[in-house]
Amino acid sequence: MRWTLCRRYAKSNMMKIYIEDSSLLVNHSPPQGTVLKVQRLLHVSAAKSRALTTTKTNAMLLLRHCQGVTRVGLLKTQRLLNSVATPSVTGCVGSLCARWGSSHGGQESGSYKRSHVPNWRHALAGLLAGTGAVLAYGLHSQAERAATTMVQPIDPPTSMPIFTQDDVTKHRSIEEGVWVTYKGSVYDITEFVSMHPGGDKILLAAGGALEPFWALYAVHSQEHVLEILSEYKVGELSAEDRRKQQTVKSSDPYSTDPVRHPALHVNSLKPFNAEPPAEILSDNYITPSAIFFKRNHLPVPQVDPKAYQLHVEGLPGAEPLVLSLEELKTRFPKHTVTATLQCAGNRRSEMNKVKPVKGLNWGIAAISNATWSGAKLKDVLLAAGYRPELAQQACHVQFEGLDRDATGTTYGASIPLHKAVSDEGDVLLAYEMNGEDLPADHGYPVRVVVPGTVGARNVKWLGKIIVSEEESSSHWQQNDYKGFSPATDWDTVDFKSAPAIQELPIQSAITQPAEGATLDRRAEEVTVKGYAWSGGGREVVRVDVSLDGGQTWKVAQLQGGEKPQPGRAWAWKLWELTAPLPPATQELEIVCKAVDNSYNMQPDTVAPIWNLRGVLSNAWHRVKVTIREDEEE
Ligand code: MTE
Repeated sequence: MRWTLCRRYAKSNMMKIYIEDSSLLVNHSPPQGTVLKVQRLLHVSAAKSRALTTTKTNAMLLLRHCQGVTRVGLLKTQRLLNSVATPSVTGCVGSLCARWGSSHGGQESGSYKRSHVPNWRHALAGLLAGTGAVLAYGLHSQAERAATTMVQPIDPPTSMPIFTQDDVTKHRSIEEGVWVTYKGSVYDITEFVSMHPGGDKILLAAGGALEPFWALYAVHSQEHVLEILSEYKVGELSAEDRRKQQTVKSSDPYSTDPVRHPALHVNSLKPFNAEPPAEILSDNYITPSAIFFKRNHLPVPQVDPKAYQLHVEGLPGAEPLVLSLEELKTRFPKHTVTATLQCAGNRRSEMNKVKPVKGLNWGIAAISNATWSGAKLKDVLLAAGYRPELAQQACHVQFEGLDRDATGTTYGASIPLHKAVSDEGDVLLAYEMNGEDLPADHGYPVRVVVPGTVGARNVKWLGKIIVSEEESSSHWQQNDYKGFSPATDWDTVDFKSAPAIQELPIQSAITQPAEGATLDRRAEEVTVKGYAWSGGGREVVRVDVSLDGGQTWKVAQLQGGEKPQPGRAWAWKLWELTAPLPPATQELEIVCKAVDNSYNMQPDTVAPIWNLRGVLSNAWHRVKVTIREDEEE
């Protein structure tokens, strides 16, 4: 048996121990069908690791028992410890069990700190389930650990067992073990699946290859994620089965995504996320659909408009309503609303500069404005049997998209019922954008448009509406798109503690001139342009612009657009200010800030609103430019 002390975790007293012992497989036949690994990585406390090394065989057996038993409860584990453990290893196994127990709802005990538990597991959860936040969590922790590596394995394994695809296929459950293959290697991820709450999704990949999952979540195919996966490696796939795998063509779920406009600045290709160049954003009050920002979490689904069905359910005493596209268009009056959509991550890149955050590095253009036409959600709910007295029972309206991840789970979100059924809420089941059928990227054939509400709740490719007592259980409602204190980090975050973002705060940004632009002194003046918008139907009433970093201000001219009805200001305001170039300076720091009709204003700096997901970034927007003096004059 070889034991190698690999790493000490930062801020913790935990060690990772690498064990290799093929003799155990031969010499011991552990009870209860416990499978001993040829190779394991264990995470134990530093103090206990010393005890472990003195009674290696017992420790190994106990640790494996412990893992198996923990899945059915902490009590049994304790019984096992009392009856089997030797004094020198009991404490160690106990603390390990306490960790696993607590991740299953058990009580935390001993000196173990819960905040260290999910680090290496969540990255794999993100990898497989496509959940950006958990992936980010893992990557953060991975980076932390990498930075604190103390001792590298001194005696890494030179050869690993060879498994056939049949061997792997037999491991498709927690009981039999959960094995997957990736690029010819075999991984036992049982530990991960049993310990992570969302791990059950991964069971769909059990006994097979990870590649199709990775094709869906290309963003996760990164070196550090692979490194985490490598901790679970148990062997190699046989050469013959490798050859077979290579001949199976992997189908790219994004191959049917639509063609996009080349002007877009692409943040990620698969899934597709892109924003228009900021300098053309303010050229049109209505953003042309082709350059409207695009935010997809999954491949764009192919929907046949003739076969399309919208399901409406959850209304007590009423049969579920099923509508075809034609029925949605003809049975209900068509309404048109001009509304701005903004992603919660708009301007995330500015937060990133303060301290790294996890998420797509959006600039200032994850926001756009369009006209949307369709049936009012309220009318459809009434047709499905909604009655005002039901508001006592149901509080939320959930939406499910037709885009699915590798496990078949759809994109989903919900909004409060009062917004959905309010006449003034203007929530649409839109089938047109800017006077044409919805483009594929924007939800063809039907999407929800929830004016004044964060983009994430505007569910595209709408398949189902559910009136419910509960919010959507979707990852994007529960574990993402929430705001936190700058004090909250990935070790302390509790997504349950924060409400899902709905209405967005006041926002504005400068679209022209661009950061780093050079102005010509001979022009004598500068024209500053931008957008301003506030969530919840609050109207932007003023935009202030400064040319000297916020010391002095001028009021910008608000442009275009009809005067909105009170509480229904769903569209942005474009604004403009032309001012003389200040003499005796070659550098300007141009700043803008907006005010809405509730006198909400933007915070002056980013740091106090920094949050680990980089959402709700709405500090004063600042652009630095230089003035080129005309030397001949
Ligand atoms: N709806 C589905 N079905 N799938 C998605 O990935 N993304 C959401 C929302 N609706 C999404 C979705 C997010 S996070 C945003 S910001 C908006 O769509 C973006 O809408 P757009 O792509 O039309 O600009």
